[in-house]
Amino acid sequence: MSKSPSLSSISINSGAPAPKNGQAFRSGPVFASTFHLSGDVDPNVYQYGRFGHPTWSDLEDGLASLEGGETTVFPSGMSAAAAILTSLAAPGDTILLPSDGYGPVRHYAKQYLEKFGVNIQTIATREIDAFDFKGISLALLETPSNPMLDTFDISLAAQKLHALGGLLAIDNTTLTCLGQHVLSLGADISMSADTKALNGHSDVVFGHVSSTNNEINAKIREWRKYSGNIPGPMETWLVHRSLSTLDVRLERMCRNALALAETLSQHEKVKAIRYPGLPQDPSHETAKKQQQLFGFIISFELADKRSAEQFLSACSLVYEATSFGGVHSSAERRARWGTDDIPEGTIRFSVGCEKEIDIIADVLNALEML
Ligand SMILES: Cc1ncc(COP(=O)(O)O)c(C=O)c1O
Repeated sequence: MSKSPSLSSISINSGAPAPKNGQAFRSGPVFASTFHLSGDVDPNVYQYGRFGHPTWSDLEDGLASLEGGETTVFPSGMSAAAAILTSLAAPGDTILLPSDGYGPVRHYAKQYLEKFGVNIQTIATREIDAFDFKGISLALLETPSNPMLDTFDISLAAQKLHALGGLLAIDNTTLTCLGQHVLSLGADISMSADTKALNGHSDVVFGHVSSTNNEINAKIREWRKYSGNIPGPMETWLVHRSLSTLDVRLERMCRNALALAETLSQHEKVKAIRYPGLPQDPSHETAKKQQQLFGFIISFELADKRSAEQFLSACSLVYEATSFGGVHSSAERRARWGTDDIPEGTIRFSVGCEKEIDIIADVLNALEML
């Protein structure tokens, strides 16, 4: 038996060292913009709140022990994505993004990078396994994709890109570092919108970037320092506190999700369903190979827009919202944004930590009313 604790146990103390006698288990946030700095500048001490901060360092150490790579925290998932794209792309480079991934990442690249001579190419997630990556310098991809939960083989993509001198970054928001270890699968960069499951309490917008490559980490940190995209100490501390319960939350959410997906897959009013945990799902084999968890997001299709809207209003336990990954179950008719190429009746359902029997009863009751 291995003597070192598993990642699940490391997440309980969030990577913090054991307290000494009389010390609190956890230290509080440090509210400071300015640090005493005398004489010649010492790069190993805190100097100014935009350059480095002890509360960031605590969370970054905790995340690094779970991700397996040095970590830089950001005030949102979008700023984490912007840090990767802006600091690693140069004029003439071609960036590959998923056509079915989080839309604002594509928007950012097109709006703010294309004008400086960076080329943007997109690809559907289900086509990535067969793609040759020729001409791609940096790929920022999602697996499973969101909302339709297609997957691709991370190790295969990393091998192909590395052979051509390219870099692979994975947006691991939907599974988190406990659900999929993207750096050990060969990706150069792991990125996450911690606003979702990693924080999980629907009260903080946050993000981070991790990598084992020192050159990449230096560029990411420099971009944070000079763009001023820095998180506040309170938000950072809240995310760190939530990290302690990530494992138990995910365990419950994913178990609930599998039970709900099995129920929905047999329901006559559900036209189609995607959940990588279902053996018949097209993502099942890849998910089994590279994920630790099947996830807590289910996408399913009802007859049309009206049925989807009726379903959402008929749920009482499940709140209608555009985010996901919280302890509270939430759902939305994703096509309402007009950004995803999906049927009008598609519901993206984020399964929370409620009792399985209660969520299933709420959903069955709402389907009954259609
Ligand atoms: C997969 C994914 N990446 C990035 C983001 C952006 O994160 P944030 O909203 O924290 O900026 C989101 C937000 O929904 C997301 O779903």
